Amino acid sequence: MSSRTVIRGGLVITASDEIHADVLIEDGRIAALAASATPAADAFTADRTIDATGKYVIPGGVDAHTHMELPFGGTFASDTFETGTRAAAWGGTTTVVDFAVQTVGQSLRQGLDTWHAKAEGTCAIDYGFHMIVSDVNQETLKEMDLLVEEGVTSFKQFMAYPGVFYSDDGQILRAMQRSAENGGLIMMHAENGIAIDVLVEQALARGETDPRFHGEVRKALLEAEATHRAIRLAQVAGAPLYVVHVSATEAVAELTRARDEGLNVFGETCPQYLFLSTDNLAEPDFEGAKYVCSTPLRPKEHQAALWRGLRTNDLQVVSTDHCPFCFTGQKDLGRGDFSKIPNGLPGVENRMDLLHQAVVDGHISRRRWIEIACATPARMFGLYPKKGTIAPGADADVVVYDPAAEQVMSAGTHHMNVDYSAYEGRRVTGRVETVLSRGVPVITDREYTGRAGHGVYTPRSTCQYLT
Ligand code: URP
Ligand code: ZN
Ligand code: ZN
Ligand code: ZN
Repeated sequence: MSSRTVIRGGLVITASDEIHADVLIEDGRIAALAASATPAADAFTADRTIDATGKYVIPGGVDAHTHMELPFGGTFASDTFETGTRAAAWGGTTTVVDFAVQTVGQSLRQGLDTWHAKAEGTCAIDYGFHMIVSDVNQETLKEMDLLVEEGVTSFKQFMAYPGVFYSDDGQILRAMQRSAENGGLIMMHAENGIAIDVLVEQALARGETDPRFHGEVRKALLEAEATHRAIRLAQVAGAPLYVVHVSATEAVAELTRARDEGLNVFGETCPQYLFLSTDNLAEPDFEGAKYVCSTPLRPKEHQAALWRGLRTNDLQVVSTDHCPFCFTGQKDLGRGDFSKIPNGLPGVENRMDLLHQAVVDGHISRRRWIEIACATPARMFGLYPKKGTIAPGADADVVVYDPAAEQVMSAGTHHMNVDYSAYEGRRVTGRVETVLSRGVPVITDREYTGRAGHGVYTPRSTCQYLT
């Protein structure tokens, strides 16, 4: 039995177009678009009609950087795949790409199987995986080829966190050389973790234990240095590079320079770096712990470089790095020692709204909003045009968005499984109204109508963004 839905009268926004159009959905895919109130649109017949008059009709968000249930610092990120993907849907995101973890001594396969088991049958929306490579050796290099073939086409490496996820320059170069051959994309956590650990030890010895010192020891220069080193290693390997969670002006400058040289080097930033700052890290009574993540929040002055990078396309993607830890019982682990605060912020539910606010504020255009939050992450990670756009043949992952609704972000009303909001009390204009995932209503007029297990694993092709 075929099922047909039509979304009538909205402003359809993609990365390339804005058009008042009716959207016909058949069997979970976009079947056709036609300008509203024309004979072609009037000819659309359906079992279900969604009135989007006065609303935007946008592709579901693609969040290419989440960490559901990530083990970190002796605890686990507090959102499961079930709670985290449900919260994502509430916020207008219909695909997440999460990070499977290889721990030292494990094979990539063991790590990937573990993450498949966590996610399978529990997700509200579709999901894929990147692979965190913590142990580069001859076996794991061979396994990278197999993973690319089965749809895990990107690999995160860490220049930070010695003794945990850290890779040295030789391991990084080898993985990059391999990805140059097999089409994989290396995603880099670019911070000089060896130098940072020295500064952490010295700060603690001086009695500097508060959360704000997390921001002081993880210096912008050490992000920039690692970004520069990663770029040159990738250049030597002949591999493309994607730098995750870019926060410092000096790191953006490294990306800009490399891109001006014509290199396939890409950068992602996150809402927390665009909207929060070291002022939050300095909040009294240990409240600053809520804002501990790495790379760290920076002084406000860095935000201008990030917005500029997003406008000039020196930064291409905004993902959340969603990695929530409750203030009570988890962030608490670092009272008296900032280095023991689990790193990460909640945000998977907030990204589309915060970036819409950036449209309202004049930082970016509506089409750029969709480009950095939907289309480019889909292309960067091999999901396009199945995900990230509204076009015939694409999955019907569609959000009806009310650009005029006002909301106040709060832990009291959000759906993430975490006891605080990084944006508590923030007033934003714009709100998700209805969300379809492959044509199935997951949010219907601000009610959750989805189901754990609707979301399916989505294998990816290699990067579709190379120049
Ligand atoms: O603080 C962060 N970003 N936590 C998640 C792990 C990572 O480095 O992305
Ligand atoms: Zn990272
Ligand atoms: Zn991350
Ligand atoms: Zn602003």
